[in-house]
Amino acid sequence: MSEHARTTLIRTARDMLHRLDSQQIDLAPDILSVDADIYVSPERFEAEKRLLFRRLPLMLAASCELAEPNSYKAMEIAGVPVLLVRGADRQVQAFLNSCTHRGSQLAEGCGKRARFTCPYHGWTFTAEGKLLAVASARSYGDVDKGSLGLKRLPTWESAGLIWVTLDPGSTLDKPSFLGGVDQLLEGFQLDRWQLYDQRVLPGANWKLAFDAHMDFYHLPILHKNTFGPDISNLAQYYFHGPHQRLGLMSSNPVEQDGLHSLKNLQEQEWSTGALLFGEWILFPNVSLNCFIAGERIMVISQVVPGETPDSSQTIQTFLTESAPTEASEAKVRELVSFIGRVVGEEDLPMSRQQQRALSSGLMPKVQFGRNELGLQQYYHWLEQVLAASSDDDLNRLFSQPAPVTP
Ligand code: FES
Ligand SMILES: [Fe+2]
Repeated sequence: MSEHARTTLIRTARDMLHRLDSQQIDLAPDILSVDADIYVSPERFEAEKRLLFRRLPLMLAASCELAEPNSYKAMEIAGVPVLLVRGADRQVQAFLNSCTHRGSQLAEGCGKRARFTCPYHGWTFTAEGKLLAVASARSYGDVDKGSLGLKRLPTWESAGLIWVTLDPGSTLDKPSFLGGVDQLLEGFQLDRWQLYDQRVLPGANWKLAFDAHMDFYHLPILHKNTFGPDISNLAQYYFHGPHQRLGLMSSNPVEQDGLHSLKNLQEQEWSTGALLFGEWILFPNVSLNCFIAGERIMVISQVVPGETPDSSQTIQTFLTESAPTEASEAKVRELVSFIGRVVGEEDLPMSRQQQRALSSGLMPKVQFGRNELGLQQYYHWLEQVLAASSDDDLNRLFSQPAPVTP
């Protein structure tokens, strides 16, 4: 982690320590009303897929999910089939998961493969996306193999995460979009962690499923049987471009790196783990939350739009900093199932309840309180991004120096 990143983290930790003493959070100037239609409208849903998911860099996987050369992962995001491959040179590339003959998907799920042979007519591609062989080449006819490689999507790794832009011609400026958040997340050194488990949970509109991740207001109420009724319902939000970070204004009954360990130490002794406290939100659809249960466990939640406006999938990925041992395994397993219950049996059923009411058309607005500053900012950013007419516009938007105020 750079010196600059550490300085930023220390500044935030210092601020958060004061707030834990004073129990004061930053409040939004007003309550925000948002049209319920944004969770329901098919036109809005299509616009979000096109203007958000197909224009912005998305965190699609942890680097350690593709740890070995020739490992791959296929996924579909906002209607785009994507194939992530780590080549023999250890570089990750992202391709449209689509054979250049007639579009069949080359791989499903994840695994390890140096060649991808199309299941339809048998064309073969290398892990670097080159067309290697055309089936029955003599009778097929002459083919310029050099021009029929897989369609490449802009991709890079930083902070142990794999980022992909689903627009092959994107001119988005990555550093402006990231607002330095990846440099801060470098502190976790996630590239050294390992994949422990992964699951997919169905939910309602992707924003209903995702915005609960920026919402601590509901913690002691909806999660009274899991996190318990004594957890704080207040978050202090810190902003890094469109991304944000939430500090909980109490300790968490489920152990996390916290600031309590710093109180009697000099700032130069503050551990990186403690400095990275809280929940991290990567705009527009990813949250990262580190827990301690036998091992340090990173819970990565990606919320992706489903087939229809009222459906989404939450992909929960669990990484451990070290391989669980015989002694720690049971605790890791319990945390993984706990997070599954919290989201799968509490948050996502709630999102479906909300969806039914909003889809009825009888509730035209939803509200975000002054205590929900991060949610207000999030919805503000969404509108700004949707309104941007080009990558140049987006670049201007993301290079604004100060956080956007609602
Ligand atoms: S679609 Fe792939 S070989 Fe025909
Ligand atoms: Fe929740």
